Amino acid sequence: MATDAGKPIPRFPDGFVWGVSTSAHQIEGAVDEREPSVWDVFTGEPGRVKDGSTADVACDHYHRYREDVALLAALGVDAYRFSVSWPRVNSPGGLDFYDRLVDELCAAGVAPVPTLFHWDLPASLDWLERDTAERFAAYVSVVAERLGDRVGKWITLNEPAEHTLLGHALGAHAPGRRLLFDALPVAHHQLLAHGLAVRALRAAGARDIGIANSHGPAWAASEKDEDVAAAGFYDTLLNRLFAEPVILGEYPDGLGELMPGDVAADLKVIAEPVDWYGVNYYAPSLVGAPQGTDTEYGGLPLPAELPFSVREIEGRPVTDFGWPVVPEALTELLTGFRERYGDRLPPVVITENGCSYEGVDDQERIAYLDAHIRALHAASEAGVDVRGYFVWSLMDNFEWAEGYARRFGLVHVDYETLTRTPKASYHWFRDVLRAARG
Ligand code: FCB
Repeated sequence: MATDAGKPIPRFPDGFVWGVSTSAHQIEGAVDEREPSVWDVFTGEPGRVKDGSTADVACDHYHRYREDVALLAALGVDAYRFSVSWPRVNSPGGLDFYDRLVDELCAAGVAPVPTLFHWDLPASLDWLERDTAERFAAYVSVVAERLGDRVGKWITLNEPAEHTLLGHALGAHAPGRRLLFDALPVAHHQLLAHGLAVRALRAAGARDIGIANSHGPAWAASEKDEDVAAAGFYDTLLNRLFAEPVILGEYPDGLGELMPGDVAADLKVIAEPVDWYGVNYYAPSLVGAPQGTDTEYGGLPLPAELPFSVREIEGRPVTDFGWPVVPEALTELLTGFRERYGDRLPPVVITENGCSYEGVDDQERIAYLDAHIRALHAASEAGVDVRGYFVWSLMDNFEWAEGYARRFGLVHVDYETLTRTPKASYHWFRDVLRAARG
């Protein structure tokens, strides 16, 4: 990859927040000390996770969080995005863990940024049920009550798009359903949960609230009408379906008619104003008309009946996951959002960006992150109000259906000994942060 790595990273506006991200299920372990989540059930079913692993121990962060906070402090990030496990909060002593973690972060001068749902739904609950949204808001109130004196920035949900599509439409993630378009209520109920959570957080005094949605440009495979239409549909499904209810208070392209309940009333809740909008960005997608057969892309099973197909983007380096490295698509995505939503687009925070590569001398990761930070800066120069950037991830962890095979961390984790070893990218990012402050 052509890279500017080595040249100083351009300066971002004052107050820009630099951070790293993780999620509870992917790092905590200590499954015996909480009730089960849909992910525990799913990983227990044969063939669901590629390497047959579970997150029972993962990085054992639950017991080693002090060491991990020390790594964050030495890295010099402003903020740490982690997630609160709803099943743990439901369990005796569970909230105490987050209380200790938040204290440890504050003492280290790292701002805690909790995500309140990162896919690990209590196993007894189901997003097909509207009631789950209300229960979520009740749980959020409990967490906000306990941590709100020390937490400034809150994130309601992580990637409801992936949780809907991978978990309920395609069956590749927990809870493993293959409902295709019958999964749409799962999207609606999560969005409703987001809106109710914003209200619950406001009631507890929170003033800095966002959501972390995954987005990427959908490029048409050719100029043929059928490819352009398929890419437009894919864009609606992945980007607009989850952005527009939050940003505009409406569903795109008549999709609201397919949603359950009093959709107009729910949209008022869903559009409860946020203080900023979180974007998880990894790669663009090249999309064309259906090809009439089942296909696979990036490890995902895509059945023939979908009204689109996802193609390889050629001529680009790919990560170990097979995802193409296209930094300028981040600029395109954000300037495109700004064009689409104008002044209604809240300030943007990149809540996840990163790549999977093996090795501790991870020069490819440095090149990837360097190029994406520059692409973010280009969006900022082009007028997008960009307020922060979080690397996925602080450390290698349980990468969902891929198990431990994909390493996204700035810190290497030896899963036998649980030893943490900072990679070259950790040292590089520490220097970027020092320079940003210098
Ligand atoms: C995102 C997830 C995160 C991690 C990265 C690689 O979709 O939010 O948990 O798995 O991908």
